[in-house]
Amino acid sequence: MNIESPLISALELEHTYGAQNYHPLPVVLHKGSGCRVWDTDGKEYLDFLSAYSAVNQGHCHPRLLKVLHEQSSHLTLTSRAFHNDQLGKYCEFMCQTFGFDRLLPMNTGVEAAESSVKLARRWAYEVKGVAPDRALVVFPEGNFWGRSIGAISASSDPDSYGGFGPLLPGFIKVPYNDLAALELTFQDPNVAAFMLEPIQGEAGVVVPDQGYLASVRALCTKYRVLMIADEIQTGLGRTGALLACDHEQVKPDILVLAKALGGGMLPVSAVLCSDEIMLTIRPGQHGSTFGGNPLACAVASEAIQIILDENLTQNAASMGSFLQAGLQDLVDTYPILQLTRGKGLLHALVFDENQPDLAWNFCVKLMSLGVLAKPTHGHIVRLAPPLVIKENEVDAALTIIQKALKN
Ligand SMILES: Cc1ncc(COP(=O)(O)O)c(C=O)c1O
Repeated sequence: MNIESPLISALELEHTYGAQNYHPLPVVLHKGSGCRVWDTDGKEYLDFLSAYSAVNQGHCHPRLLKVLHEQSSHLTLTSRAFHNDQLGKYCEFMCQTFGFDRLLPMNTGVEAAESSVKLARRWAYEVKGVAPDRALVVFPEGNFWGRSIGAISASSDPDSYGGFGPLLPGFIKVPYNDLAALELTFQDPNVAAFMLEPIQGEAGVVVPDQGYLASVRALCTKYRVLMIADEIQTGLGRTGALLACDHEQVKPDILVLAKALGGGMLPVSAVLCSDEIMLTIRPGQHGSTFGGNPLACAVASEAIQIILDENLTQNAASMGSFLQAGLQDLVDTYPILQLTRGKGLLHALVFDENQPDLAWNFCVKLMSLGVLAKPTHGHIVRLAPPLVIKENEVDAALTIIQKALKN
């Protein structure tokens, strides 16, 4: 390889000067449009990761670029010390679209999830009547909601929490998809909330049994525990419903959104809930300099509007079925694959757990053939293209996946 190539130079610079907290595939991307991205040598790929589901609308959507340019030429940031003319209408639009009273604007997913935990604790003290500093929040094992001290304190993955102690108290872990274990923890009257992903993304696209979400809802109501749905990865059309909770007609008490809310343009996250919960936090008790900035509000409104106007949720459902059928055929044909699972356009191929390099080598092979995907937890490959994907593109990806498996 040419030592002066942009690929080598970009890799070397990152390696020399960047923190080494990721293990990316050796590809340097330069351009994106829809489901496609191009590297610095001009080679084209189908993006089957979508920046961990943050690019549901496709790369560089023209409507988002237009809003980004227009709003950024007027006003980008005021802080919340002053009002701006975008935040109010954005909050109204989001509350009406998702059926909640109020929205708390934040930036990244982890901030929004952490904010929901703060809201739940506050609600427990002020509304439920839990004694000071005794509130508990329950999380399923395998959860992932980011890398803050709060998020890793809730994690059951030693790679996440190991070596970063001391961790936060007041968090309880139960097995995912286990209603009996959950109900047992709810016997404690100090339990404020149960926070879960409707499908666990980072854990390897773990889909709970049909009926689990509805039963969680019922248990939360019965024991007066807030149900917090972390739809940061599963929401905004990804699983073939606007929210993954919609598959079981479940409304959580607190909804957490991020990733695709920013349309792949900038970090935008949100917590949505009722007056009863949101108004327990008063001026000066929570905030973020960039949260609710006018640029983010304008981009996020357009990001949601695109999902609605372009029927991306319906496309995720139909393209997801097509993808799933193709993946199942591959599982039936190639014994190195154990299974496939997922919903809509959030799928995983599961390889043999005892062959840890297989999934990585498979992704490297996929890359060389023109599809980008990344292993999660060593032996699982997540497949989550932008929701704008078309049938011929799914078909092309399936052909490439088959070729990589033959290798
Ligand atoms: C379900 C879920 N919640 C929260 C997060 C954290 O989001 P962010 O990386 O924007 O902080 C992620 C990120 O992958 C996620 O998948």
